[in-house]
Amino acid sequence: MSTPLWGKPDSVIDARIMRFLVGDDVVLDRELFAHDLVASRAHADGLARIGILSADEAAAIARELDALHRAFESGEFVLDARFEDGHSAIEWWLTERLGDTGRRIHTGRSRNDQVLVASRLWLKARLDELAETCLRIARVTLDRARAEASLPMPGYTHLQRAVVSSAGLWWAGWAESFLDDLEIARATRALVDANPLGTAAGFGVNLPLDREGVTAALGFSRLQVNPQAAQLSRGKYEQLALSALAAATGDLRRLAWDLSLYTTAEYGFVRLPPEYTTGSSIMPNKRNPDVVELLRASHAAVAGAMVELATLTALPSGYQRDLQFSKAPVLRAMRHGLDALALVPELLARLEWDEVRLRAAIEPAMHATDVAIEKARAGIPFREAYRDAAALGAELAARTPEQSLAARISPGGCADLRLEVLERRLAGLAPS
Ligand code: ARG
Repeated sequence: MSTPLWGKPDSVIDARIMRFLVGDDVVLDRELFAHDLVASRAHADGLARIGILSADEAAAIARELDALHRAFESGEFVLDARFEDGHSAIEWWLTERLGDTGRRIHTGRSRNDQVLVASRLWLKARLDELAETCLRIARVTLDRARAEASLPMPGYTHLQRAVVSSAGLWWAGWAESFLDDLEIARATRALVDANPLGTAAGFGVNLPLDREGVTAALGFSRLQVNPQAAQLSRGKYEQLALSALAAATGDLRRLAWDLSLYTTAEYGFVRLPPEYTTGSSIMPNKRNPDVVELLRASHAAVAGAMVELATLTALPSGYQRDLQFSKAPVLRAMRHGLDALALVPELLARLEWDEVRLRAAIEPAMHATDVAIEKARAGIPFREAYRDAAALGAELAARTPEQSLAARISPGGCADLRLEVLERRLAGLAPS
């Protein structure tokens, strides 16, 4: 490893301890690196505005940061254990290329605000990705709700046959839920959209840093004013972002559960697109819904990371090195969750219903609730109507799913799905 940034002539550096301090941090920094470079550029430009760097020096730094970005993207520069972290690599590169100018980049900043700003920019990008994917899922499910509004489907509670329902209601349920998830992602993004750069180690610095200018240059909507608050937000904002992700992966878990049930021979309601199923290595007759199962499992990575962060942030105020360990769970959970969600729009667009099986699963007793409510509407006290309806074998058998769906007029019910309400909400949330 190159000498750490904090290395002094008298520093004792034990390789084994150094490895422990760094762990896999420098590798994780690969994911944040592009953001660290952008923030470093903004910091250098800010230093130039207050006369700490000359315009030429800032321009040279900007040029070298671009070069580093290109070398990193092409694989010519590898961020690896030669460096303590991505931050050290940036300073090393600038110093190699620019000598003393490079040695000035860290004026007025600490790795404590540097890691915060890089992580924050990364987090905002992930929340944008989350919102965009939720929007796509809502789009597909709403389209299918419209197309299959009148396709009868058994409605279950407790996994027991309950009432006649429709594929339209089922689809619209996911559409509305993923619109909620979209709004949660957006609201979380708005909250975390705050610039911590310029708070240094957690106490500010004795320079008139142009924090507003840096905030605008990096596209943040506000300044994270107080340096201690900036440090307190590390791990906390990540937890908020994971909660937003968990809202979506939690819905996905339940959706995947439905699909894994519906593809069994026992239900037989759904055929998955063939690419989303796999064969068995031993049982030649099998087609397994492995993709759906891993979609369901992806929520566990998110929920686990939330616990890890909550445990980790049991800390006093200010920077503590423990916070380094917040990176791995967040990066991993975001990747898991976003990769899973990204597969969902196409899977849903292409799954096929087996209408015969759907209809066959609707039995006469599932009309009993409709009958009881009809009687109550005609003046019989509901409790009495409820008792009578269950006993009306022939009357129930004479009913069709279509009649039941047509009569379900309560707003949001099968006869009045109010898809236009969801459509308007979606349109209001779609980027213009
Ligand atoms: N890798 C460190 C982290 O993620 C960077 C900040 C180091 N700061 C320090 N004071 N040692 O927290």
